[in-house]
Amino acid sequence: MAAADLRALVTGASAGIGAAFARALRARGERLILVARRVDRLEALAAELGGSEYVAVVAADLAQPRAVAELAATLEARGLGVDTLVNNAGVGHTGRFVEEPEDRILAMLDLNVRATVLMTRRFVPGMVARKRGALINVVSTSAFQPVPYMSTYAASKSFLLSFTDGVAFELRGSGVRVQALCPGLTATEFQQVAGTDQVPFNKTTTQTPEAVVAESLAGLDRGKERIVTGWLNRATVAAQRLTPQSVSKYVAAKMFEPKP
Ligand SMILES: NC(=O)c1ccc[n+]([C@@H]2O[C@H](COP(=O)([O-])OP(=O)(O)OC[C@H]3O[C@@H](n4cnc5c(N)ncnc54)[C@H](OP(=O)(O)O)[C@@H]3O)[C@@H](O)[C@H]2O)c1
Repeated sequence: MAAADLRALVTGASAGIGAAFARALRARGERLILVARRVDRLEALAAELGGSEYVAVVAADLAQPRAVAELAATLEARGLGVDTLVNNAGVGHTGRFVEEPEDRILAMLDLNVRATVLMTRRFVPGMVARKRGALINVVSTSAFQPVPYMSTYAASKSFLLSFTDGVAFELRGSGVRVQALCPGLTATEFQQVAGTDQVPFNKTTTQTPEAVVAESLAGLDRGKERIVTGWLNRATVAAQRLTPQSVSKYVAAKMFEPKP
């Protein structure tokens, strides 16, 4: 592509952590590409952040098989390139695995895993060729252990952690910074979508999306390949390493077990 207008692309920018990334990156002077399904929300955020000169909006359902290829074609047609990629869009569900509808499981894996891998494959080679860029994959502290009643979600995030750590190693010295961002409980729409509203938000256990993003970007500046945000989450992940998995799984199960 000839002299593309290089920008930061944020998936899932219509809410929560993605919207916070959009605001923080724009505050750093980046021009943006915002992607999600709810285009009305993206347009409102684009207007807030300076309008179409600075912020492009692309509607996409990234769980669809052709979505990433179509998004790439749209960007090429509009002369837009990507030099920072934030793969943030993701969903989770709670419930007993054997009762989960197959189509819901597959849609989650297509979004959390397939789209993230394809977005990375599609946009990172250009960064490597230009010897500069950044990739942030939004993972989760649930990547560090099995989570009963969120079994598929936690497994999808374990995949993303392993994948991102591997790519980060491969790209050392390339000029492209890579980060696996692992937030814990964050006050967004995620819990409502996932059906985990039974885990109460409070100031000790819950971070704001803005705090998560500030830690991510500060870590990126320092070249940190893996960030667990918030002191409580860091302490929990450290404690998990010292705790038998039978215990940590039991604790997680008690948090998410469907109530009768
Ligand atoms: N909140 C937490 O406690 C927490 C903790 C750890 C990790 N995370 C991770 O953080 C990331 C962001 O979640 P959040 O907490 O900010 O949740 P959120 O407020 O529910 O936002 C999710 C975003 O993903 C987008 N999205 C969902 N399905 C999509 C699809 N099929 N195609 C394109 N975009 C889609 C949504 O936009 P549309 O609905 O408009 O498409 C929305 O912008 C996720 O990867 C999540 O796993 C969250």
